Amino acid sequence: MRLHVADHPLVAHKLTVLRDGRTDSPTFRRLADELVTLLAYEATREVRTEPYPIRTPVAGTTGVRLSAPKPLVVPILRAGLGMLDGMVRLLPTAEVGFLGMIRDEATLQATTYATRLPEDLSGRQCFALDPMLATGGTLVAALRFLLERGAVDVTAICLLAAPEGIEVVRAAFEGEARVTVVTAAVDERLDENGYIVPGLGDAGDRLYGVV
Ligand code: URA
Repeated sequence: MRLHVADHPLVAHKLTVLRDGRTDSPTFRRLADELVTLLAYEATREVRTEPYPIRTPVAGTTGVRLSAPKPLVVPILRAGLGMLDGMVRLLPTAEVGFLGMIRDEATLQATTYATRLPEDLSGRQCFALDPMLATGGTLVAALRFLLERGAVDVTAICLLAAPEGIEVVRAAFEGEARVTVVTAAVDERLDENGYIVPGLGDAGDRLYGVV
């Protein structure tokens, strides 16, 4: 597993406003969206391209274009949905699949309750969206699911990560170069309720209000 922490003053600025408990839902959604676009730039560094010949008004040249098959963006429901627009703004030709994961509170095992994905992901680069890498259980299950369906590589984009969650993902994908985690920051720790500290609270509630 590879970890990339976006180190950029704009990311730090937007993240600070996002964390602030006084930030209302509409502002939170807008900032999360902007932050994801910045993270998407980092996360797509290794998106596959192929040479593409064109003519400018001046001369012929060879540029690049994204290779087929198209990358697949997979928001993990519910909170990952709040990251979708920011991601596809940068990768408008990507296809979008959906993955709903739920954790059994007795066994702590995450299972899928909803999937809308191609059956075969052979040759696909996948970008999983999950704002909070907390305990890591859900993300590990989601990444395994995508790799088992044949994804060539999977990059998780998270707004925030806890060291505990990173260790869980690292342990699950030790020596696995196909898994990358991109995040805006690694926070201090998890509290006894599984919240990231200092974090930003419940990302789903802050995006969509408490329902
Ligand atoms: N999920 C959240 O929304 N927030 C946390 O701090 C941890 C998990």
